[in-house]
Amino acid sequence: MDAAVSVKDVAARAGVSLGTVSNVLNRPERVSATTRERVEAAIRELGFVRNESARQLRAGRSRTVAYLVLDASNPFFTDVARGVEEVARDERWAVFLCNSDDDPGRETDYVDLLLEQRVRGVLVTPVDGADRGFPLLRSRGIPVVLVDRSAGPGWCSVSVDDVEGGYLAVTHLVESGHRRIGYVGGPPGVQQVQDRLAGARKALDEAGLGSAGGDALVLLQTAALNIAEGRRAGERLAGLPAARRPTAAFCANDLLALGLLQELTRQGLNIPGDVAIVGYDDIEFAAAATVPLTSVRQPRHQLGRTAAELLRAEAEEPPEEHAHRQVEFAPELVVRQSTTRR
Ligand code: RIB
Repeated sequence: MDAAVSVKDVAARAGVSLGTVSNVLNRPERVSATTRERVEAAIRELGFVRNESARQLRAGRSRTVAYLVLDASNPFFTDVARGVEEVARDERWAVFLCNSDDDPGRETDYVDLLLEQRVRGVLVTPVDGADRGFPLLRSRGIPVVLVDRSAGPGWCSVSVDDVEGGYLAVTHLVESGHRRIGYVGGPPGVQQVQDRLAGARKALDEAGLGSAGGDALVLLQTAALNIAEGRRAGERLAGLPAARRPTAAFCANDLLALGLLQELTRQGLNIPGDVAIVGYDDIEFAAAATVPLTSVRQPRHQLGRTAAELLRAEAEEPPEEHAHRQVEFAPELVVRQSTTRR
């Protein structure tokens, strides 16, 4: 393979100085049209491609932002990423999608990597409550916006009112006649899981079903927020004696709900007749499930766009002028066949 074509080769071919080539690439308004066309012709003929990462590092201002997600296989995050990418494209930013896989060690490794890359900013759905390494990023002038996580006044964040989301889900089930409801969610360190459970408890309390020791709420804790863990929760739920088995389940996200639906169906249980199911996120697969899933919708695309717009503001405003904003959206219950009035 030929050695990479350099700026020097372009200058020689066009018969101009290195500075003129640099101006054509970075400040074309400083170069006459004739000279600019000569340099552009040399770039085309030689197949010159600029070394963007070297240019960004030299300029000290990268044109890359990172979105650090909990689970890259969860459509929730790729739906949010589409909103991020729309804003990034307008800014001619590239987007690094990084996957922590809900692992604190991987999250820390990515913080170190993003420091080295001197990215323009970081959007992150943190693994757990510990804001691991994010203050360090900010101390190096790299803004951080929390996504799908509410935050204190010290951070920009976009989120959905997950307590309200859990409340909507379980109120719907109580109004549908259910008196023993499972909550499928985990790991407990994920703030969203806790907030959705808090909303579920609030709904049961308001219905007079929340008394301590009652069996109105059956907790089925999971090790992750994915389909496999939803199937495992289904095995446990189906294994309960019918007299103790919940007649409905609220799942902390749609992947858990889809796994639960699949396993309960495999075990011969009818959805919603034997067990009604509510998910969370309303990803595209929720409506397409074998039994279309009732779910609490999160405005995923809007979450992504808004997060990227907050990042742009924090990246461009002088630190002393920037006021952090915590934007919270309202969830919406979308009722489908996986729940029905008993
Ligand atoms: O961000 C944690 C969870 O909340 C994800 O699994 C996603 O589904 C959202 O609902």
